[in-house]
Amino acid sequence: KKRIVSGVQPTGSVHLGNYLGAIKNWIDLQNTYETLFFIVDLHAITLPYDTKELSKATRDTAAIYLACGIDASKASVFVQSHVHAHVELMWLLSSATPIGWLNRMIQFKEKSRKAGDENVGVALLTYPVLMASDILLYQSDFVPVGEDQKQHLELTRELAERVNYLYGGRKWKKLGGRGGSIFKVPEPLIPPAGARVMSLTDGLSKMSKSAPSDQSRINLLDPKDVIANKIKRCKTDSFPALEFDNPERPECNNLLSVYQLVSGKTKEVRYEEIHSDSAYLDSVLEEGARKASEIADATLKNVYQAMGFLRR
Ligand code: TYM
Repeated sequence: KKRIVSGVQPTGSVHLGNYLGAIKNWIDLQNTYETLFFIVDLHAITLPYDTKELSKATRDTAAIYLACGIDASKASVFVQSHVHAHVELMWLLSSATPIGWLNRMIQFKEKSRKAGDENVGVALLTYPVLMASDILLYQSDFVPVGEDQKQHLELTRELAERVNYLYGGRKWKKLGGRGGSIFKVPEPLIPPAGARVMSLTDGLSKMSKSAPSDQSRINLLDPKDVIANKIKRCKTDSFPALEFDNPERPECNNLLSVYQLVSGKTKEVRYEEIHSDSAYLDSVLEEGARKASEIADATLKNVYQAMGFLRR
């Protein structure tokens, strides 16, 4: 079976963009592929955050995955920091990552500009190397993400090829390895619609967990009346009627796209039930981490060997 991995950061609340751009698509994929879905808590510390909130946000995000229809008997659901190999491989990969590649990342430029120098830690720059590690550890074939992660995926592919070139092939064989490539080069899966859900207050920026105004996004846990209010108050325009794809009407286009994707799909959201059963949630995350570690450790062992380390 081909393998799929993806994840969401436990920062702020999971919103409609995360759902339509990523999680919704995972639901179908879990029936056809071997899937691993993680909560990327290590990525969530790359900007200043509240230590009192992190573990709660991590559990909430796991509960949202399950409430959206991720089936723990099919997919491995786990917390990134529970599988040690992610950070370990990141260090190895970072030695093969040119700084210039990281400096070019649009998200780094945007986030560091917004955060200001004082708040920009090294981890914000090396963030894509951790993301590459999340993906390459599992020898993933496909990575379903929204449009904004495209550049990070491209870096992951280039990094996989670079490590394969530097340490794989003939060189690796001489060191006693089995030759061939160390990492599979993954493909992004970006949905044709919903890959970029825009803000409710500005049709030119994407819906985002970190935008200061909660009015700009629909959170998956917002009550019905709050959502209705946000939609009533969202930015529109003064053109008559509705139309898709008019560049002068980004808000209209966004609302129509969202409507197209969510209409006729009422789902019993069983979030509360799942979330309050903490023993169940813990057992899902523990089993997920166990299965993920098996695959991740095998890859990591190969990389250490290929890079010439003394065997443990
Ligand atoms: P994150 O947590 O910002 O977003 C999670 C997923 O939601 C998608 N997304 C959107 N899609 C459409 N419209 C929007 N407005 C919108 N906002 C977010 C994102 O593209 C993403 O698919 N670095 C990643 C998390 C990550 C990851 C990984 C993903 C870490 N390691 C390995 C895949 C594989 C991030 O911060 O996503």
